[in-house]
Amino acid sequence: MKNSLTRRGFIRNAAVGSAVLTWLGARHAPQAFASETGKPALLGGTPVRQGGWSPWPTWRESWEPSVIKVLRSGKWFRGDGGHVAEFEAGYADLLGAKRCLATASGTTALLVSLHVMDVDAGDEVIVSPYTFIATYNAILINKALPVFADTDPATLTMDPASVESRITERTRAILPVHIYGMPCDMDPINAIARKHKLAVIEDACQAWLAEYKGRKCGTLGDLACFSFQNSKHIPSGEGGAVTGNSDELLDRCHAFHNVGRATGGFRGAKEYFTRGSNYRMQQFQAVILMQQFDKLVQETARRRENADYLSTHLKQIPGIQPARLPEDSRAVWHLYPFRYDADHFHGLARDKFLKALNAEGIPCSGGYHEQYFDGLLDEAINSRGFKRLFSAERLKTYRESFNELKGNRQVCATTVGLPQNLLLADRRDMDHIIEAVRKIQAHSAALAKAAG
Ligand SMILES: Cc1ncc(COP(=O)(O)O)c(C=O)c1O
Repeated sequence: MKNSLTRRGFIRNAAVGSAVLTWLGARHAPQAFASETGKPALLGGTPVRQGGWSPWPTWRESWEPSVIKVLRSGKWFRGDGGHVAEFEAGYADLLGAKRCLATASGTTALLVSLHVMDVDAGDEVIVSPYTFIATYNAILINKALPVFADTDPATLTMDPASVESRITERTRAILPVHIYGMPCDMDPINAIARKHKLAVIEDACQAWLAEYKGRKCGTLGDLACFSFQNSKHIPSGEGGAVTGNSDELLDRCHAFHNVGRATGGFRGAKEYFTRGSNYRMQQFQAVILMQQFDKLVQETARRRENADYLSTHLKQIPGIQPARLPEDSRAVWHLYPFRYDADHFHGLARDKFLKALNAEGIPCSGGYHEQYFDGLLDEAINSRGFKRLFSAERLKTYRESFNELKGNRQVCATTVGLPQNLLLADRRDMDHIIEAVRKIQAHSAALAKAAG
């Protein structure tokens, strides 16, 4: 589906939209919910929300000429043109980072960062378990062990109090994940890393423009990784970036992502002074991304306003607990999550609550599950390579440690997440979400009893 808004039209609409939001914020509070008493949609009633939500991704006609220009130039590879470097400068600027390296994806950004921070075969990396599976895989592909810190059920991010006890003589790095665009509490994590001389790599793949104590995610550790995959707030189909403030580290990232050539070298560069791979971004991706900087800023502001509004009202519903952010931080809400307590809903199971909310026209999911039980870690630790690199005793205690992730288990079992595009709608649309949750609560006894 094509978004027919022109750039000028978008800015005009966004300006009107934010004026309306301000007005609604002042004048409007959800009080009378007409269908709160109506039959739940799951039991044959009318959904609270009729009609859809805005599609994702969206684009503007004004972007087309620069994509066509790249096409007609034949200069599709970054070594033949300047668009990727231009994007890197612009993205670094947006974050307040010294440098940025564009990559083919968020996964390859993680692979580059782990290599450059010297995570080698037989090492261990302390990582958030509550993340997209690429975070685990990037560590495993380096033949290192992803050692899971626990998740803080209040914040849904790495519990800093659980990190230090997991450090061994093999630990090389800590990899916190700003999941759903919610910043991790980085001060205590960085303090532990400094004390034990460990690298810090931020997985900021969902945290474009998120802020922690006045600084953007992506500038808070040694290196940080972003994803621009299609679902992301600034998408280019596939794409990624490494950001940081060290020229030395970013030069090494550049070399590793460009088959080991010295930074800046493409055709004719001879010195292959380091190992490397091909993780380069294409020119097409760069021109699509560059045109989204303003859009990202505007949409982030709107998501934040709507998320604040949701939190204010949802937390008044018994059994609904919006995520807590670290002090002085701002999220960007790739998903808007809240924790669900079935005890306040007549024991209505979380998965049935999800079904009921979807039926009311509010798309939602349960977020991540306990992925360490899915088999990929068993496959890794039973492989010849891992058995050569780690003792049988270490692999046994490692496998057993998954059962100790009590905070993460709780988060996986009780989270409800709303996709980011819902937060791009109007303030009144947020009322549909609040109304649907209240309606389900009012009818939770009947819903809990109903089969299916
Ligand atoms: C937290 C997290 N880490 C890593 C990745 C990997 O990024 P990509 O899909 O661009 O390889 C993603 C992408 O969804 C992600 O959400």
